This record gives sequence, C-alpha cells and structure tokens, in this order.
Amino acid sequence: MTGDVLWFNGRFTTTDERLIGVEDRGFQFGDAIYEVFKFLRHRPIFLREHFHRLETGLRELEIPNPWDERSFVDVMRALLDKTETADGIVYIQVTRGEARRAHFWPEGIEPTALAYSRAFVFPDAAKKERGIKIITTPDIRWHHCDVKSVNLLANAFAKKKAQRAGVDEAILLNDGLVREGASSSFFAVRSGRIITHPLDENILPGVVRDRVIELALREAKIRVDERPLREQELFDLDEAFITSTTQGVMPVTEIDGRIIGNSRCGEITSALQRLFDADELASANSSGR
Ligand code: PDD
Repeated sequence: MTGDVLWFNGRFTTTDERLIGVEDRGFQFGDAIYEVFKFLRHRPIFLREHFHRLETGLRELEIPNPWDERSFVDVMRALLDKTETADGIVYIQVTRGEARRAHFWPEGIEPTALAYSRAFVFPDAAKKERGIKIITTPDIRWHHCDVKSVNLLANAFAKKKAQRAGVDEAILLNDGLVREGASSSFFAVRSGRIITHPLDENILPGVVRDRVIELALREAKIRVDERPLREQELFDLDEAFITSTTQGVMPVTEIDGRIIGNSRCGEITSALQRLFDADELASANSSGR
C-alpha cells in the first residue's frame, strides 16, 4: 500500500505510518475539528475561507490553533508540492491532543494537527447534468452543527441510509424543517427564487454555500431567501440542488422517490453550476502553485 502524503505535527510522512496515540482526545471523545478543501492542478481552492472556518471551530471548542493564516497556507502549499496527483482534496484535522482519559481536559495540552492530500474523482459533465436522487431522514445531531467537529456518527448513519436506499444523499429534517444534507448544503428553487437555510447552529456554514449565494445575488441577479424550508414545500419545487466542496453545485432530481421539476438539471441550477465552476477555477488560478 502506498500512502498519501501526510503532514503530522510539523513533519512530512505518509498515511501508512501509524501515528495517533490511544489517548488522543480526537480518538477518545471526537474532541477535534476538521476541514476539507479541493485542489486543481496542485492549486488550493478557497483556502482562506477554509482556514477561517477552521479557526472559528477551534475557538468554539477552546482548542489552540496550531497555525496562523500564513503558516497554514505555507503548510498546505508544501503539502501540495509533495503531492503527485494534480486534482484532489486535502483533509485536515486538529484534535485537542493527548491526555490520560477523563471527560474534563487538562489545561495546556498540545493539539494534534494533521493534513493529508488525496486523489479525488470530481463529478464529470454528464453527472452534473444528470444530478442525484436523495432521501429525507430525521436530524438527530447535537445543537452545534455550525462547528465542523469530527462527531459525524449521525451524519454517517444518514449517509448509510441513503446508500442502502440506492441514492446519493440524505437531507436532514428537524421540527418539520429542512436543515442540510448529511455532507452538503441544500438549496431549493421556486418561482425564480432560491431558498436555503440561514446560518445558525442548525447547519454548517458551507464554503460553497457562501460562494453560491454571492454568485446568485451579484452575477445571476437571483433573489435568495435565507429561511428554513418546510418539509411540505419539498414536493412543490421547481428545482433543487446540493452544494459541497467535492460535489460543487449538484442538481437533485428526486426526493423520497418524487420527481423534482423535469427530473433533469434545472435552468437556475445550471446557471449557478457554470458560475461556480468558473469561480472555483479563478480561485485556483489566483492562489498560484
Ligand atoms: N462536507 N454540511 C455538512 C454537514 C457537510 O459535511 C459539508 C461538507 C457541507 C458543505 O460544506 P462545504 O461547502 O464547505 O464543503 C455542508 C465535507 C466536504 C466532508 O465532510 O467531506
């Protein structure tokens, strides 16, 4: 097995090396924050936005940030320089660190920080036109979904349920409201307007979500209502799509077996896809190698 290039606590190795201590709080308690960013031709995309979300999450959990923006960018560039594959993703995790197991943590422990790069097959043009089918499932997560913590058990179960149903994503419902996907943000289109959940503790502030809203307002001149969609509204939509770092803007053509729009990528979704793909490339080009 040849491992992926891994930066671990200040040095380079590969994911073949066994490194995490049994008493690491990331392993014992899920006491950690993670990030995922995309790279194209070895160039990082929306790197600063991912750093800022990581920084906010670490502050929320009172974990010291091992990086400032400068050293973070330097480490990620060095990682991509050592990476063979041109296009892929980088997974980053910062845990509170290692300490004798106890729920309360001792002050002053050193965080464990790691980042590895990996090849990833992003959706091609055919998939982006065809779109995906999704199901709904109850949101059983905690009350801090705005923090990108590694506690993903509820998300993993929702995703497994989707896989068993033969679809690509599960969207999470809570109090009769649509929150987000198990690993994506959710958008609806109705009467020429876009509807998506507002930023609060119920959803992750998606980097792609943010870009898509900006592009819709500034470039496409489409109105965006940031409000939770009611469950009943799901079946009276013109278009729907999800967004994420790995999927970009991905049309949703079926929800719980019911067809959305004309069961193909809708016009507004298609326009946002084009705008977002261009925006992503511009971010890669401006970041340099
Ligand atoms: N997931 N909501 C959840 C719960 C997510 O896990 C993700 C991303 C998003 C979209 O965020 P962004 O646009 O910043 O990728 C929304 C990543 C990709 C993952 O867990 O692999």
